[in-house]
Amino acid sequence: MLQEKKIDTLIGLLQNIERDYEPAALASSFSVEDMLLTDVITRHASGIGIFTLDTGRLPGETYALMQATHEKYGGVVDVYSPDCGVLAEFVQAHGPNAFYDSVERRKECCRMRKLEPLKRALDGRAAWITGLRREQSVTRSDIQRMEWDPAHGIPKFNPLLDWSEQEVWAYIHRYDIPYNALHEQGYPSIGCAPCTRAVGEGEDIRAGRWWWENPETKECGLHVKSSG
Ligand code: ADX
Ligand code: SF4
Repeated sequence: MLQEKKIDTLIGLLQNIERDYEPAALASSFSVEDMLLTDVITRHASGIGIFTLDTGRLPGETYALMQATHEKYGGVVDVYSPDCGVLAEFVQAHGPNAFYDSVERRKECCRMRKLEPLKRALDGRAAWITGLRREQSVTRSDIQRMEWDPAHGIPKFNPLLDWSEQEVWAYIHRYDIPYNALHEQGYPSIGCAPCTRAVGEGEDIRAGRWWWENPETKECGLHVKSSG
């Protein structure tokens, strides 16, 4: 059951961020959480920007959702792409799928395709917002509503930290918000196509992300923890 109070609290929090941390922006991977936040932002806190990091390796279904988002909300999402020269060098040196070779190569690919564009996306921002939830993984169980992001030197807000998966879906269905078709094919968490697979029943939500690695290494570096 989705409580009205939870939605009101979320709207209030986003409006506070809009007022106190101008210019702030949501990082959207077009996950259900990010679609929910996109809907609330466009309707109640439209001074907050929205951006996505288009790695170039996203599944076709994610690009279809990007298109559907454009049709529903207009061009509200700023797109950041990797530097194509750096990308070409990496692919030439190691091959297009080198992320399977080692955790280090995989992280290098994430650095090039996500972290460097993220730096550009956050340049000049006073705060950023994510769709992270505590239930998503062992690495996220202790996230806070507001954290200090040491990598970018600005606060990072996780307004959905205490939302359950059911509550997120209840909002999506209530307001008829478009979502990724892969969610209906066993993909609760979706990243780049070569690094995401479907999960089996009873498996962890993020078991399909970088499935060949240990749970402890399964972050791409977008969400760096502040020490202490
Ligand atoms: S990831 O770190 O493993 O890739 P995940 O897919 O769970 O993250 O998404 C968590 C949050 O990180 C999203 O709600 C979004 O705020 C941000 N994020 C992840 N990937 C992207 C992306 N490609 N573009 C913009 N934001 C992203
Ligand atoms: Fe590269 Fe995979 Fe990271 Fe995407 S998720 S940036 S393809 S390593």
